[in-house]
Amino acid sequence: MPSVYIKTYGCQMNERDSEAVAAQLVAKGYTLAASEHVADVVLLNTCSVRDNAEQTALNKMTAVIGLGKKERPGQIYGFMGCMAQSRGKELIDRLPDVDLVLGTQKFHRAAEYLDDLLARRRERIVDTSEEQGSEGTIKEHLLNGAAKEKSVTAFVSIMQGCNQYCTFCIVPYTRGEERSRTIPDIVAECRQLVAQGVKEITLLGQIVTSYGRRNTPHPASPPSPHPMGRGQGEGRPVNTPFVQLIEAVHEIEGLERIRFTSPHPKGYGDDLVAAYARLPKLVESAHLPVQSGSDRVLKLMHRGYTRARFLEIIRKLRAARPGIGLTSDIIVGFPGETEADFEQTLSLCREVEFDNAYLFKYSQRKDTPAAAMPDQLPEELIEERHARLLELVNEIGKRKYETFVGRQVRILVEGPSKKNEARMMGRTPCNKLVLFDGGERHRGQLMDVRVTRTGLFTLYGDPAIVNL
Ligand code: SAH
Ligand code: F3S
Repeated sequence: MPSVYIKTYGCQMNERDSEAVAAQLVAKGYTLAASEHVADVVLLNTCSVRDNAEQTALNKMTAVIGLGKKERPGQIYGFMGCMAQSRGKELIDRLPDVDLVLGTQKFHRAAEYLDDLLARRRERIVDTSEEQGSEGTIKEHLLNGAAKEKSVTAFVSIMQGCNQYCTFCIVPYTRGEERSRTIPDIVAECRQLVAQGVKEITLLGQIVTSYGRRNTPHPASPPSPHPMGRGQGEGRPVNTPFVQLIEAVHEIEGLERIRFTSPHPKGYGDDLVAAYARLPKLVESAHLPVQSGSDRVLKLMHRGYTRARFLEIIRKLRAARPGIGLTSDIIVGFPGETEADFEQTLSLCREVEFDNAYLFKYSQRKDTPAAAMPDQLPEELIEERHARLLELVNEIGKRKYETFVGRQVRILVEGPSKKNEARMMGRTPCNKLVLFDGGERHRGQLMDVRVTRTGLFTLYGDPAIVNL
C-alpha cells in the first residue's frame, strides 16, 4: 500500500483540509507516513497569506525533492491548498519534479489523482478549477489517527471562501466566494463526531460570522422552511444563520463545548453577543481580528468597522461573559501607516487588554489592492513597530495570565502536551492552555485544576482537590 506524508502550513482551515485528505486516502487503503523519508507520496498543504509562508513551502519542496531523488526514486510530489490555487502550473514550471498541484476546491479528488500518478496512468496533474458544492466535501475525519488515541476535540468546516475583500488579503482569491453548508448537514457531522467521543467542536471558516448569508432565499419566494435554519417568518427578530447554526449544534447531547474561528468583528451583532450569555456550551472565548486601531487604516483595509464600534463589541461581550478570553490579529506596517496610526493600535491594545494577539508584519500579496497602494513602508520600520507592539502584547498577556495563579479552572483534557509528552494538556473555556502532571486516564475529562504558575501564554496546574 502506498504511504503518504502530508505537511501542513498555515491556518486551522488548512489543518482541517489536510486531515480530510488524510482520512480520504486512508479510506482508500493508503497508509500515513511519519516523514518524507519513508513516504511514497509527499504532499505540502500550503499557505499564501504572507510571502514567507510561500517561501517556506517552496524551500521545503526543493529540499524534499533533492533528497528524494537520491533516496526514494519514484516518489510523488504534490502541492495543495492556497499556494497551489494561486500559482497553479507556475509551480511545475519552477519545480519540474512536482507531479500534482491541487487547488482549494479539489481536495476530495486527491485519492483519484494520486492513484493515477502512482499507476503512471497520468503524468503531472494541475487542477485548480472551481467545483460546485465543494463546501460539502470536507467531511472525513481521522478520529483515531496515527496515534490510535481518541480525539477529544474536532474541527468542522461550515463554509468556504470569503467575500470581505480586505485590501491586504489574498484569501478571497485563493478560497473563492463564500459558500456555506446547510445546518442539517453540519449538525449530522457534529452528531457523528460526538457519538465517537468528541467533546468539543470548533466551527471553522474564513469568516464564520457570514455563515449562510449568501444562501438566504429571495424575499419574494414563498414561505418555506429556511434551508439554512429555522425561525423565518415567525414575527420575531430572526437570528443570523450563524447564531441559528450555533443553537442547532448546541442541542447535541454529549457535546460539551463549542468554539468557532475565524469570525469578523462586524459579524458580532447583538444576537451573537446574546448567544454568549444564553448558550452555556459556547465557551467564553472570542478571537476578534482587529488588524489596526486607526480608523484611517481600518478604512484603507476595507474592514467594515471603526475603532469605536470594535470597542463597543468588546464592552458588550465582557458584559455578557465577564471572564471571556479575547485574542486578536494585528497587522503592522500596512501601506501608509503613520506613527500616529501605529500609536492608535498601541492604545487600542492597552485599552482592550487582549489575552493574546497574533502580530503580522504586512506582506505585499499579488493582485491585492493594498499591494498597489502608495507609501509601502520600509522593512526596518515594520520590524521596529512589530517589536514595540510585541513587547506591549506580551506584557499585557503576562499580566493577564498571572491573574490565574491560585485560581481553580475547569479544563477539557485533550491529550499529552506536544512539547513534553510526560505532561497532559487541556484548555480552559477562555482558551488558555493548561499543562499538568497526569496520564492517559485524564484524556477527554472535564476536570478542575488549580493554577500554580504561569509560563509564556501557558498555565501550569495541579489537579485540584474538589470538595464533595
Ligand atoms: N479570516 C481568516 C483570515 C486569514 S489571514 C482567518 O483568520 O483564518 C489570518 C491573519 O493573517 C489575518 O487576520 C491578518 O491579520 C493576517 N494577514 C492577512 N493578510 C496579510 C498580509 N498581506 N500581510 C500580513 N498579514 C496578513
Ligand atoms: Fe481575509 Fe478579510 Fe476575509 S482578512 S479572509 S478578506 S475577512
